[in-house]
Amino acid sequence: MNFSAGMDIRGNRKGRATPRGRQASDGDHAALRAIVQPDGRQLDFGRRDLLIEYLHLINDAKGYLPAPLLTALSEVMRLPLAEVFETATFYAHFKVVDVDEVQPAPITLRVCDSLSCVMAGADALADRLDNLSPDVRVERAPCMGQCDRAPCAVYGKNVIAPAAVDTVLMAHVQKAVAPVLPNYKGLAAYRAQGGYSVLAKLRSGTLTREALVAEIEAAGLRGMGGAGFPTARKWKALLEQPKPRLLAVNGDEGEPGTLKDRWFLETDPHGFLEGMLIAAHLIEAETAYIYLRDEYPALHLVIAEELKALKAAGLLGDVKIELRRGAGAYICGEESAMLESIEGKRGLPRQKPPFPFQVGLWGRPTLINNVETLYWVPQIADKGAAWWQSHGRNGGKGLRSYSVSGRVRNPGVKLAPAGVTITELIEEYCGGMLPGHKFTAYLPGGASGGILPASLNDIPLDFGQLEKYGCFIGSAAVIVLSNQDEVKDAALNLMKFFRHESCGQCTPCRVGTEKAADLMAQPKWDEPLLRDLAQVMRDASICGLGQAAPNPLLSVLERFK
Ligand SMILES: Cc1cc2nc3c(=O)[nH]c(=O)nc-3n(C[C@H](O)[C@H](O)[C@H](O)COP(=O)(O)O)c2cc1C
Ligand code: SF4
Repeated sequence: MNFSAGMDIRGNRKGRATPRGRQASDGDHAALRAIVQPDGRQLDFGRRDLLIEYLHLINDAKGYLPAPLLTALSEVMRLPLAEVFETATFYAHFKVVDVDEVQPAPITLRVCDSLSCVMAGADALADRLDNLSPDVRVERAPCMGQCDRAPCAVYGKNVIAPAAVDTVLMAHVQKAVAPVLPNYKGLAAYRAQGGYSVLAKLRSGTLTREALVAEIEAAGLRGMGGAGFPTARKWKALLEQPKPRLLAVNGDEGEPGTLKDRWFLETDPHGFLEGMLIAAHLIEAETAYIYLRDEYPALHLVIAEELKALKAAGLLGDVKIELRRGAGAYICGEESAMLESIEGKRGLPRQKPPFPFQVGLWGRPTLINNVETLYWVPQIADKGAAWWQSHGRNGGKGLRSYSVSGRVRNPGVKLAPAGVTITELIEEYCGGMLPGHKFTAYLPGGASGGILPASLNDIPLDFGQLEKYGCFIGSAAVIVLSNQDEVKDAALNLMKFFRHESCGQCTPCRVGTEKAADLMAQPKWDEPLLRDLAQVMRDASICGLGQAAPNPLLSVLERFK
């Protein structure tokens, strides 16, 4: 692409975009203003990064995105219409509707079609709900982080889990579209237990930055978002970068089977918020962005409320905090795609290097940490590295929050020593298998982490232990299968998920997931072709989605002959 004087380095147009083709009418502008400025408040339409937030406001108000309002938005934001449309159409939670198209039903009912929910009967549920009402648009949607209460359906913003036809009907009759708030530990209770004391020590200098980093390093804390990168090493790398620096918290939690961030935020949001403020102080972040998935609407309210409480209590300090809302795209959990999304664009992963700690949000050094990683920071700083290291089993060190779903008696988030085996997890933490189910296979790390047979039941579920089996622990989303499940069906479900979630930027992933899903839907798998395809996807995909997408397929070929 040739960059003209009117374009910035990413090829975005600077200054006023001249509307060609479509133009918004005065009525469209008035309708837009009524939605985004209901009280006439001044908004900074020059902030391109708020595009997705504005799209959310329209989508919330109308239930979809009417094309004329997008035209009006592009005009007030001085963005080319193409940029507004390409962003709006990228995200699954937005539905763009043109003037000549049928206006969709105002309420969306999403029924999960990811593995744990399908195992619990989500397909049949969705079929039965398809024609619920002309007011309701029924969509199949990927994992909503409720796998322990499968099957899940979301009516408006009301999460129903487990869902059945009658519970969804009840919500429909009562027009219960609002999220239900969890009963969580608030600021007063958190402070009464000594909360925010680590932050206070750090801000006063009683705890130095060096001592904090050294403690986290001695503990050996690793990133809980999936990649397991040593947290202290990432922090140190950031500290060597020039200021201004930024912090971006990854709360996208889209990996099927993963629900731990939800659990931490639903029970103890200040544990996370203190960790975030500690990290922000450590790197002297100017702004901290919290990127939280749209599938957790109640948590958006909780975090917004608790940020207000922190502000009122004078605990926020100098750092600016921005709470951002995902829009139903798994790829936005990939860190560089998340940065694009925070900048208000499509979630297309960036080529690395440079890495986000060098060139992150708006080209600035950016620290990216997962919600849970930050949750453990004040705990380790307070109780000491030795406390963290005192946990662990089978050679593992520290604690892990395993998100367990599938055929176990008591699914949910299990805080357990890092390195437990699947047998220990099922028997000691989950009350055994469900009656009538015999353990046959398991996913140790969500959709991307591969599938193992029950015979390999003594592997420590920890970083670095599963790779020799072609698997990885990732975010520790453990899905347990039984003799009532077909492992090939499970692998196909996962490949369809990747097909749906591929951002489409690179051919090996876009075409590879499509082709693989088609081939895997055949009664007899073409093994040489599938292996060839898997190799290309692993070798040539830009990001971890395409590189890991063949893992479940290869697991089946290797271990479930
Ligand atoms: C396809 C893909 C999806 C990801 N999704 C998430 C996610 O939802 N949440 C998360 O924290 N990390 C996710 N990650 C990992 C992030 O890229 C990144 O490693 C992590 O946020 C860094 O934080 P941590 O070091 O504290 O774990 C994903 C990675 C890939 C490749
Ligand atoms: S691997 Fe897939 S998700 Fe990642 S950049 Fe390529 S097309 Fe997008």
